[in-house]
Amino acid sequence: MENTITLNNGVKMPRIGYGVYQIPSIITEKCVADALNIGYRLVDTAQCYGNEKQVGRAIKKSQLARDEVFITTKLWGGRGYRDTVDSIDSSLKNLDLDYIDLLLIHEPTGDYLEIYRAMEDAYKAGKLRAIGTANFLEEHFKRLTANCTVIPAVDQVETHIFRQQKNLHRLLEENGVIHESWSPLACGRNGFFTNSVLLRLAKKYRKTAAQVGLRFLYQQDIVIIPKSTHIERMRENLDILNFEINENEINELYALEQGKSLFGWW
Ligand SMILES: NC(=O)c1ccc[n+]([C@@H]2O[C@H](COP(=O)([O-])OP(=O)(O)OC[C@H]3O[C@@H](n4cnc5c(N)ncnc54)[C@H](OP(=O)(O)O)[C@@H]3O)[C@@H](O)[C@H]2O)c1
Repeated sequence: MENTITLNNGVKMPRIGYGVYQIPSIITEKCVADALNIGYRLVDTAQCYGNEKQVGRAIKKSQLARDEVFITTKLWGGRGYRDTVDSIDSSLKNLDLDYIDLLLIHEPTGDYLEIYRAMEDAYKAGKLRAIGTANFLEEHFKRLTANCTVIPAVDQVETHIFRQQKNLHRLLEENGVIHESWSPLACGRNGFFTNSVLLRLAKKYRKTAAQVGLRFLYQQDIVIIPKSTHIERMRENLDILNFEINENEINELYALEQGKSLFGWW
């Protein structure tokens, strides 16, 4: 697997992946097959996306060796230890895999310390290669790390030019935790694709607004998982390795911060 970042337990994770949120399940298998075909090696799904089975089928049919693909899924609505054990087994079954590369708690709700304890045990039993969190902001992250035995490997949070999560990023870095961005293209909100700074830099580097926005995160060692149902956009989103934004331009992009979620979640 090329172009990876190393997690705090030595596992290597691709730095660019393919997200499958809101892809209708009828086309998910085809989209994931296209993504794998053109070089994606990380697929990000979740129990609540309702498409784990389709992701699993695309992986099987791709004939890629199991260790060439990195699969993330997320636990939804767990109520405690026993529930979580069953929930992990049902994801393994849906994905038709012997192990999951990265399992995240989808949100810091319910008794997340108990849920995480079950994840730690599944990790120690070899069902999961790495465990982590999603939507854990500073307070949740601090509470979890004060009460766990396995420090999360990854925290996946809303991160894009309009919500950059600088304080959280620093905290994660200090703790050796990888920052992963969800909605790296802001899901197109807030005029992302017509943003004047992105368009100016895109023109300069002969790239697109999407590529500049993704490169901005990539240069900060933030893992990105853009979603597209169009193969040419999937290609575009992967093609960000042959240019570099300079410090002044990064500062211009820092100034686009809005300090709040565009989605009203966390
Ligand atoms: N942990 C969480 O709570 C959470 C929450 C949200 C998302 N996620 C994860 O993060 C992934 C990405 O986030 P997201 O899907 O919300 O949003 P996103 O990747 O920021 O943006 C996706 C949107 O941008 C369009 N798009 C993609 N590439 C483009 C390009 N090069 N040019 C123009 N338009 C483009 C897509 O349309 P087309 O499909 O029509 O191309 C789609 O409408 C999800 O799929 C999911 O895996 C996690």
